[in-house]
Order: sequence, then C-alpha cells, then structure tokens
Amino acid sequence: MKVVSVVGARPQLVKLAPIAAAFAGTGHEHVIVHTGQHYDVNLSDVFFSGLGIPAPDVHLGIGSGTHGVQTGNTLAALDPVLAAEQPDWVLVYGDTNSTLAGAVSAVKQHIKVAHLEAGLRSFNRRMPEEHNRILTDHAADLLLAPTEEAVRHLATEGLAKRAVLVGDVMVDVCLRIRDAVTRGEHPAPTLPEGIDPAAPYLVATLHRPDNTDRPERLAGLVEALAGLGVPVALLAHPRLVAKAEEHGIKLQQGAVHVGQPLPYAGLVSAVLGSTGVVTDSGGLQKEAYLLGRACTTVRPETEWVETLEGGWNVLVPDPAALPADEWAALATRPAPTGDRGAPYGDGRAAERVVRVLAERA
Ligand code: UD1
Repeated sequence: MKVVSVVGARPQLVKLAPIAAAFAGTGHEHVIVHTGQHYDVNLSDVFFSGLGIPAPDVHLGIGSGTHGVQTGNTLAALDPVLAAEQPDWVLVYGDTNSTLAGAVSAVKQHIKVAHLEAGLRSFNRRMPEEHNRILTDHAADLLLAPTEEAVRHLATEGLAKRAVLVGDVMVDVCLRIRDAVTRGEHPAPTLPEGIDPAAPYLVATLHRPDNTDRPERLAGLVEALAGLGVPVALLAHPRLVAKAEEHGIKLQQGAVHVGQPLPYAGLVSAVLGSTGVVTDSGGLQKEAYLLGRACTTVRPETEWVETLEGGWNVLVPDPAALPADEWAALATRPAPTGDRGAPYGDGRAAERVVRVLAERA
C-alpha cells in the first residue's frame, strides 16, 4: 500500500509524528507532502527534528495568504504531485486550509481520501476550520474519527457508513513525549523571560482569528491575562504577534510574559510545570487534559466536549465581560482530582489508522 500524507500547519505535524512512526517498518510506502502553510522554523522544522518525523518528500512552499489564495495555490500545486504518486490513499489531517486542498485535489483525481480527525464540529460557522472540516468530511471516502462524539456527528450528517472510530493520535504522541520528558530525556524548555519554572505560572496561547483579529477583543483578552495574580507564559503564535502589532496592542503587560511558540517536548514540559492553561487552541485543550492540568478556553464552544466533564476544561467566551475576581478565580483554579477516563483512546490510534487503511486499500 502507498499512502500520501498531506500536512502543512503545526498541529498536523504533531499528528503526523505517530502516523509516520506507525508506518515505519510495515513495508507500506508513506510519502509526506508538506504544503508550506507554516514555514517559520518554530512552527514547522522543530516538529520534524523534535518528533523524529522523516523529512518531507515534497515541499510545496505555499506560505501565507487569504483563505482563497492559500487553499487555491495548495490545490493547484498538489494536483501534479498526486497525479505522479498515484497512491492508494491520500491522508489529510485535521481542519486547516491544507486539509481541504488535499481532500479536493485527491477526490477530483479519483484517488481515495481518508480524513484523520473526522467528525469534529464546533457548530460555529465563523471558524475557517469548521468550513474545512465539513467540506473535507463530505469529500472523503474514509472518516477516521477520534471520539464517539465525532462518530455521532458524522452519523447525523449521513456519513456513518464511511466512519471508523480509531481514537485520537494526539494521545499517542502526547503520552510518549510526556514519558520522555518525565525521564529527563528533553532539555528544559525556553520559557518567556520573567517566568520562574519553580514557581506557579500559567501557560497561555491565543491564535484564533475571532480572538486576534478585532482590536477591542484582543485588547480585552490581553488585559484579562495581564490582570491575573499568577505569571502568564504567553507563547505567541506569529498571527497573534502580527495582529497585536497591527492594532498597536502591547502583549507584554502586567502578569503577561511573552515568548516564542515551543517545540512539542518543550510545550509538554511547560504544561507539566504549570498550574494551568488558558488557550483557544484545540490541541492545547486536549494536551492540558491528558497532562492533568486545568484548562480555561477563551471561546464560546469547544469541539473537544469530553474535556468539559468534571471541570477539567471551562469555557469562558469573554473574560472581559466577567468581574475581574471571578475571571481570576476561574483561570487560576486548581486541577480537579477526579478520574478522567480515556475518552480519547488508548494511545494506539496511529497503528489502528494504518491497519484500517491497509484493509481498505
Ligand atoms: C492555521 C490553521 C488553524 C490552526 C493553526 C495552527 C487554517 C485556516 N488555519 O492558522 O486551523 O489551528 O494554523 O497554528 O488553515 N505566519 C507566520 N509564519 C508561519 C505561518 C504563519 O508568520 O510560518 C503568520 C502570517 O502572518 C499568516 C498568519 O500567521 O498570515 C496566519 O497563518 P495561517 O496559516 O493563515 O493561519 P494560522 O492562524 O496559523
């Protein structure tokens, strides 16, 4: 069997790591195509080196742009690559513009498409990811769902016959790296200046357009973080930095200490060393959950509803609308102590993905 993985943005590289590892030594051919949607070293290269992913076989060098430009350029660049490779499967990951372009290029060429992380829904059509998920799921031949909730969403949309519950590959990679970090196999992460790793701190990230692109919204979020009584390590995505600069908003203020995005092991280590997480990232909500830290999500909804059970994750749509003490009490609350079960699977999802693909090649 020959499989082409199409990836391009940071979270896809994290998911690619366990898949590439599961292919290694199987005799199947696994070709990695990097669209180049993310190109900064700390959003791309460090994941290949840090997670032991083989270098991409093809790099399309697409870069940034509006949704149409980015998706369209990726689609045009992928056509000849997939035509030449003629794989048994094109495997697309998650919900970015690279995902949608990969699915459309393949389906138009009658090459079978499998969608990893199928069936997630926020039901918020303002999110570019929501369009990408729905369009990709409806184009794909095989829907590899991470959770029972995702399978239910697919069934509601008439896609049950194409769906297979495989579990979440993020568990595979997160727990492997957690164990390596715990064994001291990774150097301590470079936390933002002013964060004492031995004292309590929060890890924060913001990158969703709904949080970063409107100046009042972004200013309110940064002020809410700045007013917390615990130092906040804000690992700033380039989109956040660009939008803050554009709107003249100072990120480094009050409790906020700004730093670079971290490589994966650095992030896992930073979360393990923290007292909690404030984020709008889907991946980080789940990483906090898997690593046993309280998460506060600055969004009106989450796709990862399982994290809300037992109070591990709490949604705060607008921190600036809450009294300051109420917001602070939420954001700095300790992790719950209850058993969280294993709604995201057993850490062997990637092996299952390879097996299901091979059975249906
Ligand atoms: C993309 C995905 C989002 C995912 C996120 C993870 C889409 C629609 N969005 O959002 O689902 O959660 O990746 O990080 O596909 N930039 C750089 N260097 C880079 C890449 C981007 O500076 O290497 C800056 C550019 O100013 C760019 C902006 O970040 O315009 C946004 O990048 P883009 O790839 O469009 O979307 P993300 O916000 O990263």
